[in-house]
Amino acid sequence: MKPAIAFMLLCSLLAISSTAEEFDFFYLVQQFYPADQWPGSFCDTWSGCCFPDTGKPAADFGIHGLWPNYVKCHSLHDDEGLAAGEHVGDVNAFFHSTSVGRRHGKNNKKKCWPEYCDDGNAALSPWEIRDLVSSMETSWPTLSCKSSQSIEFWSYEWKKHGTCSNLGKHDYFARALALKAAYNLTAILAAAGIVPSATDTYSLSDVSNAIAKGTGFTANLECNRDADGEDQLFQVYQCVDRDGSQLIDCPVPMPTKCHATHTKQIADSTQGRRSMKLAIAFGLVFPLLAVSSAAERFDFFYFVQQWPGSFCDTWRGCCFPDTGKPAADFGIHGLWPNYAHCHRHGDDDVFSIIGRLLRGRCWPQYCGGDDDGDEGGKLSPWAIRDLVASLQRNWPTLSCKSGDSFRFWSYEWKKHGTCSNLEPHDYFARALALKAAHNLTEILSAAGIVPSATATYSLDSVSDAIAKGIGFKANIECNRDSDGESQLYQVYQCVDKEGKNLMDCPLHMRSKCSDQSQGGRGGWIRSTGVCVVVP
Ligand SMILES: *[C@@H]1O[C@H](CO)[C@@H](O)[C@H](O)[C@H]1NC(C)=O
Ligand SMILES: *[C@@H]1O[C@H](CO)[C@@H](O)[C@H](O)[C@H]1NC(C)=O
Repeated sequence: MKPAIAFMLLCSLLAISSTAEEFDFFYLVQQFYPADQWPGSFCDTWSGCCFPDTGKPAADFGIHGLWPNYVKCHSLHDDEGLAAGEHVGDVNAFFHSTSVGRRHGKNNKKKCWPEYCDDGNAALSPWEIRDLVSSMETSWPTLSCKSSQSIEFWSYEWKKHGTCSNLGKHDYFARALALKAAYNLTAILAAAGIVPSATDTYSLSDVSNAIAKGTGFTANLECNRDADGEDQLFQVYQCVDRDGSQLIDCPVPMPTKCHATHTKQIADSTQGRRSMKLAIAFGLVFPLLAVSSAAERFDFFYFVQQWPGSFCDTWRGCCFPDTGKPAADFGIHGLWPNYAHCHRHGDDDVFSIIGRLLRGRCWPQYCGGDDDGDEGGKLSPWAIRDLVASLQRNWPTLSCKSGDSFRFWSYEWKKHGTCSNLEPHDYFARALALKAAHNLTEILSAAGIVPSATATYSLDSVSDAIAKGIGFKANIECNRDSDGESQLYQVYQCVDKEGKNLMDCPLHMRSKCSDQSQGGRGGWIRSTGVCVVVP
């Protein structure tokens, strides 16, 4: 994983701010993700949920956050403290706002916790918590449908709450994980006979007592409503000292929102009669949304592999990537959406083409934004972190502008990938799978076509060998070595719109493998070209 880390090093490692933030305690908030069945309480509401890109979370509680909190809310206009709990049940009190009693008052006159304390230190880089990531993926997964990447959830939590914690990023996340690990709420509840069920209900006091007994400290509870309007246990708020290391009894109560079923009354804090269930599934998990709803229209992909020797053996030369000299093997150039017919600029006329070289729109490009600097097409190393090692072997840069292959992949993603209707991870994973499925070097060598400074091969023999080896017709492109001789440069395999299955290429391309004299303008050379494969 070392190479992957190198990209992430680009992110800054700033220290936290030096002014200590005043607050009284932390809430460690855990959400209930129950049962083998899904969804849990988070998911079993009208809004549903989505799994993180790391897969379905375990049947367990998951961390929502570690939130600095005041014991007394502060009025924003004077310094008078307001006990955060005094006003439960008072219709106009801040506690009675839409959420859990942690909320600021509806009109924002009260501040009940600090937030967004340090904009300068708000960015969280995966690098800073790299040793915690696998544990966080298990214990702190996102269920948001906005993004399936848990790092975005953690970044938000850090920015909003962590920057007020007086802890460094690593400590902040490590302490939350340690607290969760020290008290297994699922096991504590199960020991008291409280287990996920679609039908059984439990009184709020039973749940409260089980947690107080199991952890040694009182906690606050919050319910939400399932899709049928039934109360269910949603979040447990354990209270933690200012170091983020020891549990304490919660200094203030919270409205639980665990009503008696279908009753809108907020009862007093004895909470005796109210009951809830621990949710299990009713099948409301939504699939992750596609990147964009307007699917880009194209007809097929060109999957382009290049022979590194030919790339390098031109007047321009080449440079090795930072990761060292690439293998004597084909490397990926790109996976390019392409039209079967070019579109003329400015009208919808189509005209057939020979290859990619004519003017007009023959393929879509920069679908996430324009050429320069647009955020829409930005590739995150995090999104492809598990593919980096394989990409470095199979998709190395040979550019002398930068030895960082990530810049090559970013460019390919921005120009072509954003038009693919695929997520970045799928886009790169499918290209790697296509390359792995057919080893072109091996296919050519089985036909006696091997790199040589002197031997030449007919274009036909190269074409035929590839068609036989992969089962489909591909296009071939030559370039000129530094002596002006044709050499096999790139192989264009054609792939369906899913980026999964090879197909016969619907278009022929100029191979440019000819001698000058044989390259009829506008035509394409099929059989007369001579290619030299350079080692
Ligand atoms: C907590 O306990 C439950 C039930 O015993 C178990 O399935 C789960 O794996 C435990 N969680 C952790 C993080 O150990
Ligand atoms: C492809 O085959 C060649 C020759 O057998 C071998 O050297 C190379 O490692 C193979 N490439 C991959 C990616 O397996």
